[in-house]
Amino acid sequence: MRTDTPQTIYRKDYTAPSYLVDTVELGFDLDPARTIVANRMTMQRNPDSSRRDIELYGEDIELVTIRLNGKTLDEGAYAIEGSILRIPDAPDSVTLEIETICVPESNTTLSGLYVSNGNFYTQCEAEGFRRITYFPDRPDVMAKYMVMLRADKEKFPVLLSNGNLVEEGELPDGRHYAKWEDPFKKPSYLFALVAARLVCQEEQFPLADGRTALLQVWVEEGNLDKTDYAMQSLKHSIRWDEERWDLELDLDRFMIVAVGDFNMGAMENKGLNIFNTKFVLANPRVATDIDFQGIEAVVGHEYFHNWTGNRVTCRDWFQLSLKEGLTVFRDQEFSADMIGTDTGRAVTRIDQVRTLRQAQFPEDAGPMAHPVRPDSFVEINNFYTVTVYEKGAEVVRMYQTLLGREGFRKGMDLYFARHDGQAVTCDDFRMAMADANGRDLTQFERWYSQAGTPIVQAETRYDEAARTYELRLIQTCPATPGQPEKLPFHIPVAVGLLGKDGRDLPLVIDGQPKGSTAVLELTEADQTFVFSDVPEQPTPSILRDFSAPVILKHGYSDAELVHLFNHDSDPVNRWEAGQRLAMARLLKLASDIALKNPAADAPNASARTAVLEQMNLDEVFVQAMRAILVDESLDPAFREQALLLPTESMIADQMDVVDPLAIHMARQFVRADIGVRLRAELLAQYQANETPGEYSPDAASIGKRALKNLALSYLCAAPDAESLALAERQFDEATNMTDRAAALGALVHGRAPVAPDALQRFYDEFQSEALVVDKWFMMQATAPTTDVATVRELMKHPAFTLRNPNRARSLVAAFCTGNAVQFHAPDGSGYAFWAEQVIALDALNPQVASRLARAMDRWRRYSPALQEHMKKALQQVAGQGKLSNDVREVVSKALA
Ligand code: PHE
Ligand code: ZN
Repeated sequence: MRTDTPQTIYRKDYTAPSYLVDTVELGFDLDPARTIVANRMTMQRNPDSSRRDIELYGEDIELVTIRLNGKTLDEGAYAIEGSILRIPDAPDSVTLEIETICVPESNTTLSGLYVSNGNFYTQCEAEGFRRITYFPDRPDVMAKYMVMLRADKEKFPVLLSNGNLVEEGELPDGRHYAKWEDPFKKPSYLFALVAARLVCQEEQFPLADGRTALLQVWVEEGNLDKTDYAMQSLKHSIRWDEERWDLELDLDRFMIVAVGDFNMGAMENKGLNIFNTKFVLANPRVATDIDFQGIEAVVGHEYFHNWTGNRVTCRDWFQLSLKEGLTVFRDQEFSADMIGTDTGRAVTRIDQVRTLRQAQFPEDAGPMAHPVRPDSFVEINNFYTVTVYEKGAEVVRMYQTLLGREGFRKGMDLYFARHDGQAVTCDDFRMAMADANGRDLTQFERWYSQAGTPIVQAETRYDEAARTYELRLIQTCPATPGQPEKLPFHIPVAVGLLGKDGRDLPLVIDGQPKGSTAVLELTEADQTFVFSDVPEQPTPSILRDFSAPVILKHGYSDAELVHLFNHDSDPVNRWEAGQRLAMARLLKLASDIALKNPAADAPNASARTAVLEQMNLDEVFVQAMRAILVDESLDPAFREQALLLPTESMIADQMDVVDPLAIHMARQFVRADIGVRLRAELLAQYQANETPGEYSPDAASIGKRALKNLALSYLCAAPDAESLALAERQFDEATNMTDRAAALGALVHGRAPVAPDALQRFYDEFQSEALVVDKWFMMQATAPTTDVATVRELMKHPAFTLRNPNRARSLVAAFCTGNAVQFHAPDGSGYAFWAEQVIALDALNPQVASRLARAMDRWRRYSPALQEHMKKALQQVAGQGKLSNDVREVVSKALA
C-alpha cells in the first residue's frame, strides 16, 4: 500500500522492454515467516528498445543482495524509486542474481506468495510476481523458468510448480525439495508454486495425438469427495479444445489446485491452475446446479487459456480482453456445446444476456465505464471487469456472427499461426480475423476503443402495395468518461420477420434470398434495410440471439410482443418478448408506487401497500405467462428463463430516479400475483418437474429443478400457509443442495415462521463446509428483512471473517449489492456501513475492498436525499489518508 498520489498509466505510452529475459532460475526456501527467494536470470538488451537501463519491479520484498555478471552491486550501482529498481548503463548480456526475503504469513492481499490454511500458494496476475522477486514483471517479457522448492517435508509434503517435475529428494533437518522445469517461455504473471499438505485425484488421459497426460486435482484431505466433477470437466475441456479448434494440451502434466482464500475465480498458471475452492469442490450434498455449472465453465475457462492467454499472451495489460474476452467466449461455447441441444444453447445464451444487463450495462453507464481495451488505468486490478470479460466475449462473438463459424475458425487458425509464442494486441487479433477472411474490419475497431452501450432504435414501415418492408436502424451511444462523442459502430443485427401464423417469412434483400434470419450490417448512424416480397404486415424479430451488445428500442405493442413470445423461432428473442412485457408492467407499477409517495426518502410503506391493493396484473400478461408455463413442448429450462422477471437492478436501470423500495414492492407484487393467479398451474409444474432418483447435474435435470424451484418461489411469494408447508417439506426431504437451498430461500424470503429454525438447522448440518456456510450468510444478507443492524450481528458470528474473500463477499458485498431495499435505507445507515467495511477491508486486501467500493458506482441515479448520504460516505472513504490505489481510483472516479 502506498500513500503517494496514484499515477495514471496510459496505453499510448507503451514502450518495448529495455531488456528481455531468456532464463530464470528460482530457488525458494519456504518459511511462512521468512521465505528466501534466490533469482538468477539471464538477460539480453532488447534490439527493439533504445534504452540501456535495466528496469525491474519489486513490492513488499526485502532486497538482500544483487549481483550483475558475478559482481555484487553496491548501492550506487542501482537506484530504487518506489517499486522500480533501475540499473543504468548495463552491458548487452547480463546475468543477474538477486536474493530477496518476503513474509508469506502476513501477506493478506493474496497477491504474490501467501499462506492459506497453513499452506503456501501464489497469485501473480496481474502484478504479483514483483511481490516475490525483482523482475521485469510485464507480460511482454517471456522467459523459461526452472524452479527449486525447499520446505519442511512434514508440513508441506506436496511441492508443485509449472511444467514438469524433474527431480525431488530429501534435505537435512526434515526438509525436502522438488525441482520443476517449464519447457515453454512464459510471462511472469503465469508463474505459480504450491507447497502444501494436500491430496489429489489423478488420472492418465489420452490426448488426440496419442500421448497421454497426467491430470491431477489437488485439494485438502477432507475434500477428496468433491473432486469428481472438476476432473470430469477438465477432461471434457481437453477433448473440446481438440475437437472444436484442433488445439492440444502441450504438457505431459496438468494440475488444478483448490485454495480457500482466493481473490478471483481461478488462475491459468501454466500447467498449474490455482482455483478458488468455489470452482472446484462439488458433490450433490453441498453444491447446487449453479455451482456445478460454474465449475464446468471455470475449469474450461482456465484450461482454454493455455492457448488463448498462455501460448499467445498480451503485450500489455491494456490488451487484457485479448485473452479474457476470447477465453470467456470459448468457455461460453464450451458450456453450450456440452448441452448440445438448440434450446440448451439458447438457455446459456439467455444467461449471458442477463449477466450483461445485470452487470455490464450498468458498468458501461457509470463512472468506471471503460472501453473493452482501456486507454488508461491507475490500478490494473480494477480492470478485471465485466466489460473486459463479458463485453469482450460479445465482441469476439460478433466476429463469428459477421464471418460465420468457418470464417471465424480461419481467423483463429491464422491468429495462432502468426502469434504462437508471442505477446500481442487486440489489433493483432482483429487483423488475423480480417486477413483470414479478406474483410475490412477497420470500423469494427470501435468496439475496442469506445465505451458505452450503443442504443439501436428500430422503425418499421410496411408497404402493402409494393410488398416491401423497411427496417430503419438508428444507432447512438451515450457519452462516457473522457469520451463525449462516439462514432458509429459496426453492428451485426440478426433479423427475422414473423408472419401472422407465427412462422418465419422467407427473407429477400436486394433480390437475394436470406433464409429466415438475415444478419444485417449496421455501419452508419442511420441506415434503412428493405425486405422485398413480403406478403403481409410482419412482426419483426430484431437482434436475434442477441447478435450485438446493444440496447434495442422499438415501439412494440403488447399484441406484437405476445405474438413473439408465443411463436418466435429464435428462443432468445422469444424470451426477450416476455422480458419486455414484464418490464413494462414492472416499470408502470414501480412508478405508480413511487408517485403515490413522492417523498421516496421517507417511504411510507403502508400508503404504498394501499396502492398495491388496487393493482392487478392484466390478463394479457398473466395469460402469456400461463401459456409458456404449461407448454410441455418447451424445455423446462427455457420455461424457467421465460418466467423469471427482470431483476431489481435491471428495473432500476430504466428509471429516471431509482426508487429501490418502489422497485422491490412492484416486483414482489408481480411475483405474488403470479403466485396467486397461476397457482394451479404452478403446483402442477412443481409436481411434474420432480427429479427423483440419483442426483445428476445434466442440463435436462437442471432445467427441471430450476422450473420446479421457480414455481415454489412464486407460490411462496404470496405467501400462504400451504405453499410454505410445501417449502418446508422440500427443505426437510431434499437430498441435494439445489433443492435444499431453494427451499430455504423460499422460507426465508417468504418470511415463514419456521425460517429461523430452518436456518439454524442448515448451519448445524453444514458448519464444517465453508462453501455452504457462505451460502448461509448470503441467503440472510440478501433477504429483504435483513437490515444493517442484522448484518452487523451476523458479522459477530464465529464463522465470519473479513479476511476470507468468499466469506466477506457472502455477507458484506452480498448485502451492499444484493439487498437494495435495506442497503438504500433512507437514513443512510447502509452507506455508512459500506464506508466502514471498505476501509476495514482495504487494510487487508485492496482487491476485495475495491470490488466492494463499486457498490456505490451509480449513486447519482438516486433521489437527492439519498445522494447526499452516498456522497458523504464516498467522501469519507476518499478522505482516508491511507488508501490503496485500487480503492482510491474507484471512489475518486465515482466522485468526479
Ligand atoms: N486470469 C484469471 C482468469 O480470468 C483471473 C484472475 C485475474 C485471477 C487476476 C487472479 C488474479 O481466469
Ligand atoms: Zn480468464
